[in-house]
Amino acid sequence: MKRSIVLGAGKYLPECRITNDDLTRWMDTTDEWIQQRTGVKSRHFATEGEGVADMCANAARDALKMANMEAKDLEFIILATLSPDYAMPGSGVLVQKYLGCETIGALDVRNQCSGFIYSLSVADQFIRSGMYKNVLVLGGESHSSGLDLSTRGRDISAMFGDGAGAVILGAVDVEEGEEAGILTTHLHSEGHFLRSLWCEQPGSIFRPRMTPEIFNNDRWFPKMKGRFVFTHALRRFPEVMNEALEASGYKVDDLDLFIPHQANLRIIEFVARQIEIPMEKVFTNIQKYGNTTAGTLPICITEAIEENRLKDDDLLLIASFGAGFTWGSVLMRWKTPPALRG
Ligand SMILES: CC(C)(COP(=O)(O)OP(=O)(O)OC[C@H]1O[C@@H](n2cnc3c(N)ncnc32)[C@H](O)[C@@H]1OP(=O)(O)O)[C@@H](O)C(=O)NCCC(=O)NCCS
Repeated sequence: MKRSIVLGAGKYLPECRITNDDLTRWMDTTDEWIQQRTGVKSRHFATEGEGVADMCANAARDALKMANMEAKDLEFIILATLSPDYAMPGSGVLVQKYLGCETIGALDVRNQCSGFIYSLSVADQFIRSGMYKNVLVLGGESHSSGLDLSTRGRDISAMFGDGAGAVILGAVDVEEGEEAGILTTHLHSEGHFLRSLWCEQPGSIFRPRMTPEIFNNDRWFPKMKGRFVFTHALRRFPEVMNEALEASGYKVDDLDLFIPHQANLRIIEFVARQIEIPMEKVFTNIQKYGNTTAGTLPICITEAIEENRLKDDDLLLIASFGAGFTWGSVLMRWKTPPALRG
């Protein structure tokens, strides 16, 4: 039987680091408010000409290095983002070009904060079916060029940052009953609440899509009903985490590490308390990067490896909730990437 393990991981954060104090130059806010309500201390913003595909390609290069592989070894690319470089085509084909891969397929996924979970799940299905052996799974965002950095947009803009992460999923053969890599994935959506966290314009439902009037209104900035999103996140995170544990016959106590999507430190702490997992087993980096949406989880996985938080055979749960609403979880029996084994 084929199973998917992580062969390598990488991250890229733009050089430009923006502290909470820096934000006070543009909006009425304070370092204290942002830290208390969200946990964020700083975030990174991309600069002119630094697109999502550039960031993803940089993260992918590091992942290839860790895996001791070359771009030609990749068979398929999946890229999750809500902030693609261009209206079309998607950013996946740009990464294919930047890495110099042969004409392998490149798929873009539009599932916001759950984009990476959805992408991992799709990659896992390709590997389990035997269609591909090595799949590059990317998540990245360039939020900063689309945020309302005035006081009007401060609820959202204080939370988000730019960055990208990459994971190379590879096939391993396992015997019946043996566990390696991804054990189970669970995906959900509830489009009924799309307007609770969305960016309305420009969109193809408008004729024409872009007008001076659209440019001058504030509907091309993301909008969020913060408290509403907060309460739904508190419900859906534990639900989808338990779904993964139950599907595999495990309990919370069996987990070695939980990597949640990093939207708000308070949400993470509430969820940890609710499912009764100690914070020592919960990975966070929202303090440094804010919410990098599709980039968050692969950045976290990379840092968990770098910080030695993942050991061979650890039980790892990752979960996410975000716009759509969409949410999901992936349970993994972690295997140290072969190229890192002594
Ligand atoms: C956005 C969020 C941090 C706001 O925290 P909150 O405790 O709910 O705060 P509220 O929205 O009730 O706002 C409280 C006040 O702070 C103000 N405020 C909002 N952003 C602010 C900022 N950056 N600085 C200072 N004040 C701010 C609001 O205007 C409001 O003022 P008012 O009471 O005078 O109207 C919180 O709701 C949240 O994290 N929601 C979920 C976010 C999320 O998970 N998103 C998913 C992304 S995938």
